[in-house]
Amino acid sequence: MTVTIYVPGDSGALALGAEKVAKAIEAEALSRGIDARIVRNGSRGLYWLEPMVEVATDAGRVAYGPVSAKDVPTLFDAGLVSGGQHKLSLGDPEKIPFLAKQTRLTFARCGITDPVSLEDYEVHGGLTGLRNAVKMIPADIVKQVTDSGLRGRGGAGFPTGIKWKTVLDTAAEQKYIVCNADEGDSATFADRMIMEGDPFVLIEGMAIAGLATGATKGFVYIRSEYPHAIAVMNKAVQVARSAGILGKSVLGSSQGFDLEIRSGAGAYVCGEETSLLNSLEGKRGVVRAKPPLPAIQGLFGKPTVINNVISLASVPIIMDKGAEYYRDFGMGRSRGTIPIQIAGNVKHGGLFEVAFGLTLGEIVDEIGGGTATGRPVKAVQVGGPLGAYFPRTLFDTPFDYEEFAKRDGLIGHAGITVFDDSADMLRMARFAMEFCAIESCGKCTPCRIGSTRGVETLDKVAGGIEPEKNLALVTDLCNTMKFGSLCALGGFTPYPVMSALTHFPEDFRPVPVAQAAE
Ligand SMILES: Cc1cc2nc3c(=O)[nH]c(=O)nc-3n(C[C@H](O)[C@H](O)[C@H](O)COP(=O)(O)O)c2cc1C
Ligand code: SF4
Repeated sequence: MTVTIYVPGDSGALALGAEKVAKAIEAEALSRGIDARIVRNGSRGLYWLEPMVEVATDAGRVAYGPVSAKDVPTLFDAGLVSGGQHKLSLGDPEKIPFLAKQTRLTFARCGITDPVSLEDYEVHGGLTGLRNAVKMIPADIVKQVTDSGLRGRGGAGFPTGIKWKTVLDTAAEQKYIVCNADEGDSATFADRMIMEGDPFVLIEGMAIAGLATGATKGFVYIRSEYPHAIAVMNKAVQVARSAGILGKSVLGSSQGFDLEIRSGAGAYVCGEETSLLNSLEGKRGVVRAKPPLPAIQGLFGKPTVINNVISLASVPIIMDKGAEYYRDFGMGRSRGTIPIQIAGNVKHGGLFEVAFGLTLGEIVDEIGGGTATGRPVKAVQVGGPLGAYFPRTLFDTPFDYEEFAKRDGLIGHAGITVFDDSADMLRMARFAMEFCAIESCGKCTPCRIGSTRGVETLDKVAGGIEPEKNLALVTDLCNTMKFGSLCALGGFTPYPVMSALTHFPEDFRPVPVAQAAE
């Protein structure tokens, strides 16, 4: 009898030794004469338990973790192949509270299937959405996506259906679907996890976007730091092409759609949609002025849908189960689920997909389990390097686009970085300005010059040079950047700076000489 053992091939698990674990399991099974089939699945997103090994038993899957290569012999001694008890036993993975509390719509298959097996994908519900879309007229597909309430998961939260409708309504011989997989925000890894763990869901979402808008060609722009995601996506595109999902005819329909995978240029600003389009065209990643909108004049001047990975990967379930099913999750104008990525100084770091509406406190304290250091949580930065720092007093904020905006924050790509009470918020504010100075594309003055002046001015505050005057100057500078920058890099850098200053004013005092020298 063949036993199936799952060892994640996900980058996060690989970084924690999954490759060695897979090799050790293979060798151990061979030496014991056990017929083992090792599947390199994606991660379920419980990173403190990676590498998390699972074995398929008659009673369902049984998990162990975190497993290291040296644990492998004792795992076999304990009867791993039939789910035997071991000190690393986690039982049924679906019952681990971190997983059991989730609502997995977009990530339904991630960590469960073999990422590049189309058969596995279909057995677990894949392609139903695309099959439904093939039978519909474009306007009805667009309507279903609009009615679902899906908003862009890349950062701005723009309604996906409205963007698609603009492209559908713009006549052109050639239209494009561009997937933004640059994923530059700190604490974010949802795009990578889906591309490595369930690449067909993204391909399916992009094919549906093509049918909905009349676009016949798509590109996935993946950050160059994601070599594994690039490899898995390339393999999955080949499989999808051979199966007639991509190519001259999508699943036998009259419309074709094909995809190319491109490696990013390695700059944070290349995640900004117009800069990304320039980079895809082979130019420097400099931001374009809008209008024209990419939906009207995008890639190579043609109407282009540009969406984040998670936005596109959420479409198949909408086309499968219907707009109402998806819209029923969430709160206010934030509909559906959101894959929250919990990182930084946190006990249980990982991906938690849930309907909008949990409070920040529930996410950090209950789901994340507080800090890894065991010290009190001081602040959390939500939404990547351009997101605000929230203190404990704002932990009652529900995870919702509008609720965060009301409190001068943003959800962004839903990455959360946790800091304990040793964090120095003046240093974090300086870091935000420095990050902007390094990553600025240089097109507009408030961002290009303002960020450098911001670093200098915060250094003066830290050095005790006219702190009050210089803090007033920082505030003034932030206003200029916020209202005068061309894109959100310069425009949103004031969020981390001003939130640090507003919520932690006690940190904005001269840094003691010994500390400054560190
Ligand atoms: C500096 C900067 C970096 C960005 N980086 C990303 C990114 O890495 N991934 C992403 O999807 N969106 C990123 N965005 C947002 C995109 O410009 C755009 O809003 C998004 O790709 C649209 O897709 P969506 O509607 O599906 O969210 C960035 C924006 C800015 C200003
Ligand atoms: S805000 Fe910064 S990154 Fe954006 S266009 Fe201006 S200089 Fe470029």
